[in-house]
Amino acid sequence: MTLFDRHFLHDPYPEYALLRDTKPVMQLGSLSGKIWFVTRYEHVREVLESDSYAEYDLPAIIEAKVDRTSGRDNGELGKRLSNWLFFMSPPKHAIMKRSLAPLYALRNLDLARNAVWSYARRIVCKSTLEGPCDTIRQLASPLPVVATSTLLGISINDREHIANLASQVLRVFEPLQRMSIYESVQGGLNGLDVALSSLSHAEESLRTLARRAEASASLANLPSDELRALVIMLFAAGQDTISASIGNAVFTLAASPEYFRCLRKHPDIIPNAARELIRFDPPVQIVARVANSDQDLGGAFIRVGERVCVALGSANRDERHVPDAGTLNLERSGLAHVSFGLARHYCLGAQLALTVLEAFLTALVECASSIQFAGPYRRRSSYVFRGFAELPIKFAP
Ligand code: HEM
Repeated sequence: MTLFDRHFLHDPYPEYALLRDTKPVMQLGSLSGKIWFVTRYEHVREVLESDSYAEYDLPAIIEAKVDRTSGRDNGELGKRLSNWLFFMSPPKHAIMKRSLAPLYALRNLDLARNAVWSYARRIVCKSTLEGPCDTIRQLASPLPVVATSTLLGISINDREHIANLASQVLRVFEPLQRMSIYESVQGGLNGLDVALSSLSHAEESLRTLARRAEASASLANLPSDELRALVIMLFAAGQDTISASIGNAVFTLAASPEYFRCLRKHPDIIPNAARELIRFDPPVQIVARVANSDQDLGGAFIRVGERVCVALGSANRDERHVPDAGTLNLERSGLAHVSFGLARHYCLGAQLALTVLEAFLTALVECASSIQFAGPYRRRSSYVFRGFAELPIKFAP
């Protein structure tokens, strides 16, 4: 197996294990300079926690790219993305993050939990009567839209459309960027702007939140375009991530029915199970940083300006950190994994994502007695987002 080939896409974990043992900080060739690939938990943690590694400034890179034939640039796209938390550095980052935190208050999460639970119940119950369904299109993909719109207090009818656009936008995180991808991302952003015609409600809800919570005063004063960028970021960031976590969980439960039987028998372990499923097969596999100064990482010499990609999926399976890491143990508790990142850029929506997965698993064990594959499945062709493009499943009543 070679890194990033078809087999790796299907199952990267054996290759990760080999790298952790032999070349835990490995140099990859790239046209755009040296890139380091980091697979052990201790090094992944060091990169994410240390101030010696900065945000990878994708918006600036996008802005600088000009299409050779048409002469067109991506200035507008870069500018819009620079309002996303992922790419912000302190102190603006901390202010914005604190401002958005009240959105994920317990009361709001409970509203999202109920909305997701009742939507998932409806689709799973319907499918037990009507036959197989594509888990991704019919279940996993609409659920993030259900969750985020509930959180923002807006109602959306065409969830599939919003889900597709949000997914299109998130392609900006894929490596090997080309002009055609930027065009698609820009198209997704424009589409979301138009499609969320009730965006004014969403803006309103953020401003109301800002007025209520003192910490959010900076949101209240934000210009409209920056606030809209944040709303779109919330939809986009939650889309392929939540959707993949649901698809990956369904795949695991269908492939190993004993786990599903265990959940049905002991639904009280669902909160632990949701965390363990996300540790075992995380939707976001790789995140990037740039060295601020020359660094020694696990004996490798990393020069200032070089890019460092950390493999979250590998760190989660590092036996040096997690006992029996290669085994899925739905009752495992108190585990520190890195599926949501760490430190400054720790995922804003982690609690929401876990709430959605828990609500989904609850609906699943309530409505289905067994789940089986109902046809060939297809993985997404992405190393960054690990998930399925199609996953036909039969839910038995
Ligand atoms: C299972 C679902 C999810 C996974 C696995 C996931 C994963 C991650 C990871 C790994 C990071 C760190 C990125 C980095 O360090 O560069 C991150 C950051 C982030 N996530 Fe999530 N995410 C999920 C769901 C969500 C949801 C539902 C939202 C919606 C609000 C969201 C919003 C964000 C934002 C805004 C950041 C950037 C935070 C910052 O820069 O301070 N994520 N996420």
